[in-house]
Amino acid sequence: MTSPPTLSTLATLPIRPAPPWWRDAVVYQVYLRSFADSSGDGIGDINGIRSRLGYLAELGVDALWITPWFRSPMHDGGYDISDYRDIDPVFGTVDDARALIADAHQVGLKLVIDVAANHTSHDHPWFAEALAAEPGSPARERYHFRDGRGPDGAQPPNDWISSFGGTAWTRITEPDGRPGQWYLHLFAPQQPDLNWANPEVRSEFEGVVRFWFDLGIDGLRVDAASAFAKHPDLPDHGFRPGDTFSPRLWDSSPLWDVDAVHEIFRSWRAIADSYDPARIFVGEVTVKGADRLALYLRPDELHTAFNLDFLKSAWTADALRANIVDTCTAMAAVGAPPTWVLSNHDETRHITRYGRHDTAVPDGSAGADTGRPADLALGTRRARAAVLLMLALPGSAYLYQGEELGLWEVTDLPPECRQDPVWHRTAGAALGRDGCRVPLPWSGQAPPFGFTEGAQPWLPQPAEWSAHTVTAQDDDPTGMLALYRAALGARRRLLPHLSAQIDWHDTGRDVLDLSRGDALRCLVNLGGSDIRLPEGRILLASLPGIVDTLPPDAAVWLGPVT
Ligand code: NOJ
Repeated sequence: MTSPPTLSTLATLPIRPAPPWWRDAVVYQVYLRSFADSSGDGIGDINGIRSRLGYLAELGVDALWITPWFRSPMHDGGYDISDYRDIDPVFGTVDDARALIADAHQVGLKLVIDVAANHTSHDHPWFAEALAAEPGSPARERYHFRDGRGPDGAQPPNDWISSFGGTAWTRITEPDGRPGQWYLHLFAPQQPDLNWANPEVRSEFEGVVRFWFDLGIDGLRVDAASAFAKHPDLPDHGFRPGDTFSPRLWDSSPLWDVDAVHEIFRSWRAIADSYDPARIFVGEVTVKGADRLALYLRPDELHTAFNLDFLKSAWTADALRANIVDTCTAMAAVGAPPTWVLSNHDETRHITRYGRHDTAVPDGSAGADTGRPADLALGTRRARAAVLLMLALPGSAYLYQGEELGLWEVTDLPPECRQDPVWHRTAGAALGRDGCRVPLPWSGQAPPFGFTEGAQPWLPQPAEWSAHTVTAQDDDPTGMLALYRAALGARRRLLPHLSAQIDWHDTGRDVLDLSRGDALRCLVNLGGSDIRLPEGRILLASLPGIVDTLPPDAAVWLGPVT
């Protein structure tokens, strides 16, 4: 067990043919506003990404998912789009996007962009037309407008609630000045839901999809994919006062995961398949359980989707094992790759989650951080183990910018800086998602840590991040960055030799112990005491000094003994 880590034994192991790139890609999520600012306005932009492509290529990821860059009034961080064929000037231009595509491809990175098409912005020309038009007009038919209930229509048309808190309906003033109809928004009022039963909506967005594929984008992330279709009668769901938005608990709801949605994605898939090389779709599909998720990933629908249940699992062997088994079984049934994710721009960063007493993400939290104190040292130790687990699993994985630097949730942002509609719509009762969106620290001893020059970053960075900049970690073999680089490099070399199946070993209830053929065995100790390691050469360990035993909250990758 004391030999130095080596992958030389791989030469003797069988090789599996390379699958299409997206089936085992590691995709790095760029939260555009917070990645790197080239223009000096304190907000990240496309040329900022271009300036850091070397860092991303060296990190060892395969693709970037970039959060929305379209024209937007930014009521929900760009997930409220007013022009789907243009880029917001804050982020750059379509020419900048072209240059980014070329540069990224040059260094071997694929690009996935993020389209929010369940809803438009309230500044979209279609919505302006709808407001100016008559009830029942074709312009209103592109959205969900309805008369209110009650004698003077003063009550919302049904009981649906918004994911950001409160009713999902807003009443408009008609062009003649009278209080008028209501429109549906499952998110903020500035994000009216489109009526996807309307053929004009379908054909417009097929054009949008083609526009970006024609430009050379490799794939699209489909925002809120499980929300597109609604029951045609918009009936009550049976919500009661105080209910939270919890689609992971809903069965047969009229507002979410409605079966008509699949027809939309079949037509999108045909478009993606008509390109050479074929383009892909990654769904944000929040549904009840892996079997419902798999329906979106049938061979003629979306290619892949985030495994948000993995992210939300508690840090226990039982919860993680159950998720891994369920996911692999459900995905195998439709021939889709399983995927794994620990953090994203909607959820409390996992170092903080894993450092709290309750490590699971509760249903209905709408990504809102609780602000409870966390033991960040414990969270960091678990996060180091978690990334070795995630990258040992079959399929593809998503990293959220900054997790490779060991960043935590910023829970003490000043209220006046907060921008998330979750914070505003709950009057601060929920902290919202700004705490996981704080701009990245690249270099230097003090904010803005090389993120921007001139202006202040759009959210303030903690002074303690001076120890977490890329520069500070660049030559530190013990840092989080070194672990990510080593794990991604090793994964890439191991990949052709890994079995697509997981073989589980029984090493006790609190241990995840799995093999991917002979090339890799991964053990994660989620219990409270050390466990003895089996035979094998240590390829990677989440902590220094691991030789014969694996301490709590640690992980190793073992290769075959030479
Ligand atoms: C999911 C996105 O990830 C989130 O950030 C956004 O607020 C909602 N969809 C609405 O578009």
